[in-house]
Amino acid sequence: MSIYHPPSLLQVPSGSLQIPLAVDSESPDTSPELLNGEMQPHLRKTVCPILFSLVIPTYNEGKNIPKIVTLLSQILDEAIPEAYELIVVDDNSPDGTWEIAQALMPEYPQLRVMRRVEERGLSTAVIRGWQASKGDVLGVIDADLQHPPEVLLQLWNEIQRGADLAVASRHVEGGGVSDWSVARRFLSRGAQTLGLMILPGVIGRVSDPMTGYFLVRRACIASKTLSPLGYKILIEVLGRGNIRWIGEVGYVFQERQAGESKVTWKQYVEYIQHLLRLRFARWPVARFLRFAVVGFSGVFVDLAVFYLLRQAGLGLTRSIILSAEVAIINNFLWNDLWTFGDISQRQPGKSQRFRRLLKFNMICLAGMVLQTLIVNLLFNVFLVNEYLAKLIAIATVTLWNFWVNLKLSWRVTQVD
Ligand code: GDD
Ligand code: MN
Repeated sequence: MSIYHPPSLLQVPSGSLQIPLAVDSESPDTSPELLNGEMQPHLRKTVCPILFSLVIPTYNEGKNIPKIVTLLSQILDEAIPEAYELIVVDDNSPDGTWEIAQALMPEYPQLRVMRRVEERGLSTAVIRGWQASKGDVLGVIDADLQHPPEVLLQLWNEIQRGADLAVASRHVEGGGVSDWSVARRFLSRGAQTLGLMILPGVIGRVSDPMTGYFLVRRACIASKTLSPLGYKILIEVLGRGNIRWIGEVGYVFQERQAGESKVTWKQYVEYIQHLLRLRFARWPVARFLRFAVVGFSGVFVDLAVFYLLRQAGLGLTRSIILSAEVAIINNFLWNDLWTFGDISQRQPGKSQRFRRLLKFNMICLAGMVLQTLIVNLLFNVFLVNEYLAKLIAIATVTLWNFWVNLKLSWRVTQVD
């Protein structure tokens, strides 16, 4: 009497959320055991290289998983037969989604299933699935059929055309949402607007940063240590990946057919945390510290020149202005050489350097006006101690000077 061996589940990766660059996409995907001396269909050797790995993150999708696997298999068997894999990553769903998916494996040889018990969460589920994958192109689709499977081939074609990232968007031609409530539309658009304020360079690159339906080249995100939060995995890919060309395809977000959405207020809080984490991850900390050290040296230059000028009998106001100007030039020279040296080297020549000095000067003078306003506001309106007010003003103006100079004076204009 033969004993039925359920198909083996994928081993759950652990450790950092880093996707390996090269994988042996032709390694035969077999389990050691045979049955009655015959290789079972789902144990047959797959030697066709895997081009595309599509992760389906699931939590309580038992009613949806057979349908989504069938639809996706039909589409991909036609387009890239045997050159793809579907990876269901289930977080130990109470409704046994992982078992239902596992039972489908004999019928769908390209299907692989991962059951996570320790770790939970949508974004990490997707990344763990990608870590265990073999394809050159990675993708993610919801299991609940709200992402139309037929859009997948359009996304695949975008990648074949050369895109690094192909995003299914509700906000381009052919896109939309089914009958969402005004509140949900407002929340979704509100989240996007907030993202544009905190992380314009990331959120602004796509029309639908909230979507969870996209494909990305493995090479663009491999070896990057990802640290997503919550639901929005696309923001993590855009924020940390090396993405040049982005293709967008319109799709209509469908009504859920079974089960219910797992989105709670917690995902909204995690979304904001995620934005801030990426914001500071993209902040040039080392460069800012060099800028602050130079600025600090400027204080001593300012005081020393102010002292010498006063000793020489120069008037108070002229001493203040002249000593401040000497400090600004001191700071420019050090910043141009050290803080932004890597950028200024790419903008050689006296005229370029003089242009940078002028911009730096204007920004620092504007910073002095800003500092005067802040001290007066804190001291006269909010009755803050004058020295504390001065300290707060200096810190604020340092951030201002750094950021505006980074964007204007030492902006990387020429592309090498
Ligand atoms: N493994 C795992 N773990 N999967 C999860 C988890 C989890 O903790 N939470 C949700 N999922 C799976 C669901 O089973 C579903 O397949 C998919 O992630 C989306 O979850 P929903 O609960 O259906 O989210 P939604 O309908 O509100 O969709 C929103 O989020 C999606 C994911 O970012 C929308 O913004 C969609 O555009 C977006 O794709
Ligand atoms: Mn959904």
